[in-house]
Amino acid sequence: MIYHIPWIYVPVRNARAIWHQVTTSEFPEFAKASVLMRDRSKVETTIQAMQRAGPEALQVISDFDMTLSRFAHNGKRCPTTHNILDNDLLINDTCKKRIRELLNTYYPIEIDAARTIEDKRPHMVEWWTTVHDLLIQQKVRKDMLAQAVEESSAMLREGYKVFFDRLQENQVPLLIFSAGVGDILEEVMRQNHVFHPNIHVVSNYMDFNQCGELQAFKGQLIHTFNKREGALLHAARLGKLRERPNILLLGDSLGDLSMADGVAKPQHTLTIGFLNDQVDERKESYVNSFDIVLVKDETMDIPNDILNYVTPVLTK
Ligand code: TMP
Ligand code: MG
Repeated sequence: MIYHIPWIYVPVRNARAIWHQVTTSEFPEFAKASVLMRDRSKVETTIQAMQRAGPEALQVISDFDMTLSRFAHNGKRCPTTHNILDNDLLINDTCKKRIRELLNTYYPIEIDAARTIEDKRPHMVEWWTTVHDLLIQQKVRKDMLAQAVEESSAMLREGYKVFFDRLQENQVPLLIFSAGVGDILEEVMRQNHVFHPNIHVVSNYMDFNQCGELQAFKGQLIHTFNKREGALLHAARLGKLRERPNILLLGDSLGDLSMADGVAKPQHTLTIGFLNDQVDERKESYVNSFDIVLVKDETMDIPNDILNYVTPVLTK
């Protein structure tokens, strides 16, 4: 494949701005076999435009489970926020068994390349509703959540600290849009010391009674394939955030592509899709849908490389 190599403008601190040629050395990570792009020159032009507009024009919108958090580590699957609740501290053995059966039934549907999103939607509603009802029956205790997160094998992707800290230092808002459990993902970030004030979360939050027992989930249910409705619903609440026109979007599901639908007037959008599972079956649709596809990449290297370019290093 032949890529055309554009000339782009790169400001150098304490020096006259210079023009220089973008080569693979500008983005050495793009040369990795795990990085797929439908149109590399469009990716580079978008990064160039984002760089010119500066961090004030940028917002990052990201999914949480299997996007900010790892899919696997040392060959073992890492838990989603729902799966972190699979702990003796919170639910009994019968409930655990049932939740695992549901995972085995519905996860293959979620990632099935042969089914349409329309076809998957009612199954997702069924999955989430059943699991949430089971958790409510178990009266999951608020005061046990932090310990359950500590005891879990949940991990953020390698390089996460650079990613979160860089956004915070540049006051770039990070909107986390998750169909997982909000209370749990907040705790994962807290325990990793990256739950910074620039983070806004839209997710399924638990509602506890006065005794600190789960009695319901708040607001409208968010599942993998209704993020568009959620984005529009929460747009008003997100206020100024909506006005930032340049968007770096990160997800691991095709449903994540609609997370930016609440942005008022998007100008430059770059979408990155982590393709964690069912790679051969889903590669084509991911490459057709995301600008950059990262195949079985458990790191934040590519998002960090892009941020490196778009936002200045302010510390060190
Ligand atoms: P995300 O929007 O943050 O990725 O969260 C949704 C993920 O959670 C989705 O990929 C499926 C997963 N999930 C479980 O692992 N267990 C469950 O019980 C449910 C309902 C969802
Ligand atoms: Mg996900």
